[in-house]
Amino acid sequence: MKLPIIAYGDPVLKRVATDIEPHEYPNLKTLIADMFETMYGAKGVGLAAPQVGLSMRLFVVDATPFSDDEPELDGFKKTFINARILEESGEEWPFNEGCLSIPEIREDVYRPANLVISYYDEDWKHHQQNFGGLAARIIQHEYDHIEGKLFTDKLSPLRKRLIEKKLNDISKGNISVDYKMKFPAAKKGR
Ligand code: NI
Repeated sequence: MKLPIIAYGDPVLKRVATDIEPHEYPNLKTLIADMFETMYGAKGVGLAAPQVGLSMRLFVVDATPFSDDEPELDGFKKTFINARILEESGEEWPFNEGCLSIPEIREDVYRPANLVISYYDEDWKHHQQNFGGLAARIIQHEYDHIEGKLFTDKLSPLRKRLIEKKLNDISKGNISVDYKMKFPAAKKGR
């Protein structure tokens, strides 16, 4: 089932998400499947639980669309539960990021090249892994979501000012987008 994606301006996107326990979510696999379906339906490469209104440390990624640039990303589909980035290293590099909660805005964002992350997968198996390249980039962007941060928080005050009106329009739902969204400042009846 596709879920509505929460738009920029909703407080859930600013909240630091909390760890989850296996017994608390017996239907976790259904939620994960719904998140993948929602992400694919919106042509995204990552989606975090706060973006569907749940302040949980959970995100999903599928980097396959980037396999033209990095062939090893073909089939790079993963679920991250209770993730913690343990270390980031390497030179910061710019990548033109977008976000399903912030449609039609793309900006260059600088992030370190590599990371080490600890997480559980959808079967509650623990992993500690190193990632680089675009895999690291997607993980960093989604990880920010469970820390209550958006890529727009990383922009210079000038860039932020230049897109301020567009951001307000997104909160109000004054955009056309071809997937289902929930707009925090939308007038009733929209
Ligand atoms: Ni995002």
